[in-house]
Amino acid sequence: MDGKERMPGGERVLTGDRTTGRLHVGHLVGSLQNRVALQDRHELFLLLADVQALTTNFSHPEGLRESVRGIVLDYLAVGIDPRHATIVVQSLVPEIAELTVYYSMFVTVNSLRHNPTIKAEAAERGYKDLYYGFLGYPVSQAADITFCKATLVPVGEDQLPHIEQTRRIVRRFNELYGAVFPEPRPLVGRVPRLAGLDGHGKMSKSRNNAIYLDSTQEEVTAKLRAAVTDPARVHATDSGHPEICPVFAYQQAFNEDGAAEVHAACSAGRIGCKACKEMVAGRLEAVLQPIRERRQRFAARPDDISEILLTGTERARGIARETMAEVREAMKMNYLAESGQ
Ligand code: TRP
Repeated sequence: MDGKERMPGGERVLTGDRTTGRLHVGHLVGSLQNRVALQDRHELFLLLADVQALTTNFSHPEGLRESVRGIVLDYLAVGIDPRHATIVVQSLVPEIAELTVYYSMFVTVNSLRHNPTIKAEAAERGYKDLYYGFLGYPVSQAADITFCKATLVPVGEDQLPHIEQTRRIVRRFNELYGAVFPEPRPLVGRVPRLAGLDGHGKMSKSRNNAIYLDSTQEEVTAKLRAAVTDPARVHATDSGHPEICPVFAYQQAFNEDGAAEVHAACSAGRIGCKACKEMVAGRLEAVLQPIRERRQRFAARPDDISEILLTGTERARGIARETMAEVREAMKMNYLAESGQ
């Protein structure tokens, strides 16, 4: 234990990322910057959720490796410090899988079917018959959060049903077997999710509408040039509608001080889309350039990435083993202990 863990007011905080790709600028403003701030005040765990990624990638698991290692590079590049934050590979903590099985005994299928995020994701993927692992991933996520008894879980809005499900699982477990787990609270960031540059909701790899943290300046400029703006605007002197313009959301995220002025200028037809996009490109470059440099530096040291993963995961396993001992004791499944207490 170091001094940080004993810091008054510090909590155990856990959050995670599905390892289905790289992190983009939406993650940066929506969660990464917040995590960098949290790592100084709290004991932070970052879980690389590769098992959860398997729910939709089981047919091509070979892509997970690059994503796991790439996300660690993204973390380091934005300022996550592995001496302050514990980076954990989900599949290398078997106690999480074990806990998932125990929880699954008292979670009903209906409560999972009614989970709005599961419903939305199933609809998006056109699933008719749901895979067992997919339907149950909120149970596995409850195990992610509770193996280390986290009390605070920074997440996006869409994850709230899962945190609520975790809270119900914790209450039920404690009621059935005794008070082992604290009820975790969600921490939703203030920054709304950045939409894709094509104006079609979420950023995603398949839509090619996201700016990744390792993008080159040329890629950023090209993506912004192609970005959708207010469709009602034909000439630069037409008055624009920034509130419906995807590029204006980037002004708000990356040009906080100047966004109000751009809003006024766009609405009055005093700034055209080309100039506005160039402004955003400049702002983004100022943010991404140091991130890109740090990322390249870490990418040149692949052994360090392995070491970070090993150290973080070992630390998490130590905690997970202690939790499982308590779980077995509470469930009276500690057969090898002398007394049946
Ligand atoms: N489901 C989360 C997402 O898609 C990722 C995740 C996995 C997670 N395990 C977690 C988030 C535990 C918070 C806590 O973003």
